[in-house]
Amino acid sequence: QRVDTSDQWIVERTGIRERHRAGPDDTVASLSLTAARIAMAKAGVGPLDIGAIVLGTATPDRLLPSTACDLQALMGAHNAAAFDISAACPGFIYAIVVAEGLIASEQADTVLVVGAEKLTTITDHTDRSTAILFGDGAGAAILQRVKGGDRGLLSTFIKSDGRLAPLLLRPGGGSSDPISEKVIRERSQFMKMAGREVFKHAVLTMAEACDEAIKRAGITADQVDLLVPHQANIRIIEATAKHAGMPMSKVMVNVDRYGNTSSASIPLALAQAEQEGRLKPGTVALLVAFGAGFTWGAAVVRW
Ligand code: COA
Repeated sequence: QRVDTSDQWIVERTGIRERHRAGPDDTVASLSLTAARIAMAKAGVGPLDIGAIVLGTATPDRLLPSTACDLQALMGAHNAAAFDISAACPGFIYAIVVAEGLIASEQADTVLVVGAEKLTTITDHTDRSTAILFGDGAGAAILQRVKGGDRGLLSTFIKSDGRLAPLLLRPGGGSSDPISEKVIRERSQFMKMAGREVFKHAVLTMAEACDEAIKRAGITADQVDLLVPHQANIRIIEATAKHAGMPMSKVMVNVDRYGNTSSASIPLALAQAEQEGRLKPGTVALLVAFGAGFTWGAAVVRW
């Protein structure tokens, strides 16, 4: 499909230069498996060590059962409880919050947290206001109970405002409007977005989330070494960095390479930051995201 746009417009307004599309045989579960294997190898844990799989996604492979259960089967993580989190782009941060709760309540000692999407399957490639933004991807992390010593997760904050749902949604294809000829005709199985309004709320909510997470961690903004924001638009990232008083040199940016991958965005950015040597033991990172719902959230982590 071709839409009336230009590379110059896209780069200027969004900072996005390329996005990735999953192959025809890739599923959200198979993308998650690749990410999970890398995370497990780094953490030195095997599939049977995992007590829970919490997978954030807005694009589950099937509506029933959860993609996390498919991932569990692929991994052979037979000791785990597995379920999905539907929190749109902050899905990874919401999943971290749930994982922390599972560990605190002694449901699990080791939790696999995943953010994974095939957003290109719910993107209307004839709609230039959204077609340019979204891509596919997956990222994963292992969270474990700390036996003495410093906590890695210093604070978390999550919030939502369901009144803002009409600004960014996928109206058709769910149980209120199941797939039908009408849904297909109206293309309502695809995402619809009021871009400018979303932009405004994104800047406001990311600012609130940064402030709250920093406050709850009992630190000041200048003690944050690296800001890892949701990669939706370079202008939103710049506004968030400005609000947090952080120079762009302390901000992880890869929106140019992947576009918006929703719940995969933060773990993909973390993985790249680690590869580039920007996350060393002791590094304090502030993760922050917003998305459809509206949902938003942040976490301060010590690497
Ligand atoms: N190529 C060329 N022109 C485009 C275009 C495209 N891909 N998309 C929109 N336009 C046009 C519009 O039609 C409009 O034209 P008009 O002035 O003649 O009406 C003009 O560009 C400005 O549109 P607007 O929507 O106000 O642009 P913008 O500067 O707000 O940028 C977004 C649009 C989508 C890039 C921006 O609003 C955005 O990033 N919003 C947040 C989206 C987001 O992050 N969503 C995910 C949440 S997790």
